[in-house]
Amino acid sequence: MSVSFNLATDLDAALKSAALAAGLTDAAAFTPEVRTADPRNGDYQSNGVLGYAKARKLNPRAVADQLVAGLAPEVHERCEVTVAGPGFLNFTLKPAALLAWLRVFDTEEHLRAGAAAAHAGQTWVVDYSSPNTAKQMHVGHLRSAVIGEAICRMLAFTGARVIRDNHLGDWGTQFGKLIYGYKRWADPTALAADPIEELERVYKLGHAATPDDSPELNEARAELVKLQNGDLENFALWKKFSDVSLAAFQQIYDRLGIRFDHNLGESFYNDKLERIYAELGEVKIAEVSDGALVVFHPEHPRFKTQPFIIRKADGASNYGSTDLATALYRAEHFKADGIVVVTDFRQGDHFEQLFLTVKKWFAAKNHRLPELHHVTFGAVTGEDGKALKTRDGGVIKLKALLDEAEERAFAIVNEKSPELSESERREIARFVGIGAVQYADLSQNRSSNYVFSWDKMLALDGNTAPYLLYAVARIHSIFRKLAIVPGDASTDSLASALETPAELALARKLVKLPDTIRLAAETLRPHFLGLYLYELAGEFSAFYAADKVAVDDPAVRARRLLLCARTLVTLETGLHLLGLRTLTRM
Ligand code: ARG
Repeated sequence: MSVSFNLATDLDAALKSAALAAGLTDAAAFTPEVRTADPRNGDYQSNGVLGYAKARKLNPRAVADQLVAGLAPEVHERCEVTVAGPGFLNFTLKPAALLAWLRVFDTEEHLRAGAAAAHAGQTWVVDYSSPNTAKQMHVGHLRSAVIGEAICRMLAFTGARVIRDNHLGDWGTQFGKLIYGYKRWADPTALAADPIEELERVYKLGHAATPDDSPELNEARAELVKLQNGDLENFALWKKFSDVSLAAFQQIYDRLGIRFDHNLGESFYNDKLERIYAELGEVKIAEVSDGALVVFHPEHPRFKTQPFIIRKADGASNYGSTDLATALYRAEHFKADGIVVVTDFRQGDHFEQLFLTVKKWFAAKNHRLPELHHVTFGAVTGEDGKALKTRDGGVIKLKALLDEAEERAFAIVNEKSPELSESERREIARFVGIGAVQYADLSQNRSSNYVFSWDKMLALDGNTAPYLLYAVARIHSIFRKLAIVPGDASTDSLASALETPAELALARKLVKLPDTIRLAAETLRPHFLGLYLYELAGEFSAFYAADKVAVDDPAVRARRLLLCARTLVTLETGLHLLGLRTLTRM
């Protein structure tokens, strides 16, 4: 019998066949909607019968009974099937089916191969981090980077070709003032030591020296016009600003395990904007209003009067124009099947207007339309609910935040594991500290505000990175003590049927990884995976407390070691998907 990766989708297909086999009216229209069940009801539940029966004035329980009778014999061999309540179908996997699945999906590679079907053959462009150049990354930039990277990994794991695109804010009027300030006040020594710090300083001077209506402001504008017209000196300066910014950003990305395939910032689209204006005008989606080129959406309650500006009255491009060009480039050049843009919720209107516009425009011009997703997240706040600030009220730089995470983790490791060498303790602190920051963000629903608390994220108990990383290290140490390699085939092959309540509960949780990844990848919400890993670690602890692993009976010992090994590979795979690095000892 072949074993499917996601048993929920497998049952879904089996129920569809059962509907046909049982001769259900309109059988092709029946959608079983099999999902992971509340454990009290079994492993999986189908609730599709209710809606289907209601729409056709049929008795749902009678339909459910028909489906049970129509199910292929092998489904009954693998599961107990019951009809519950008004017409739910509950499936409980039999111990042999659990063990069969655990035998097949034994490594990260095999899990990956199993998951690959979901987005197989698709290309997804993920636009995340995307900071503005010539400025430091601060705490506000954390979430897009962390959430975006987890989404990239989940999409890639489920089979997509993922293109990581850092859509830098590297164009705009601020460069006039920056060049103005740079030419007057840049200090070469400071520039060499900390380039972005120095660029921020000269920008502030440039801004202060060019008040509204002053002749200095006209000079700054003239610098901008020179840059836009390709003046060699100003272009070289602008290029330098981008280069030093990217180099500084990369130091942060390295610490977070992020590597972009492209850094196609706003400037990249400069020569692609005329086509946008022309096409949108040609298909009559855009109109001129007070000199600006704008798009209204008459079907929308707000956007029928609130315009989406795609070219300013003075002829200059803006965020709308570059994002339209960006969508077209991703569709045409990358042949994207899906585009994900990760920014905070405040850009909601912009992306809603953008996507409405893109859909109409692509339909009118016959451009192939990718799936469009704006992945938003809430603000980062302190425990008082207010924006996170340094003690003196300044913005917290991302570099300083990551340094502090490592330092705090180092203090904890020093206390817990003084016997390890300094370099080992440093490495553990790096993985735990950075992992704690990443995981604190990913373990919460991204739509909520993210309450930043060092004590909570570094706690060894609860849904935290240290707790999960520790669970991984502990399983490694079980194998180390027995001098066995986790997942060793000769041990696995001795395993006897799962028996005890704790063994079965753990196995039931393990086989839910695929449906959890499906849920997290489909909804682009990594916290579903985080919660699953936390619950899995809890099931493991309960199992480890209830059932001794190193017993004399070789078959019992082998099946318990198999459960340990699968828990290990599942925790590691899940944590890697979230962007964390795992340890073998802590
Ligand atoms: N640079 C923008 C910011 O800092 C984010 C860009 C997001 N991506 C996009 N295609 N608009 O807010």
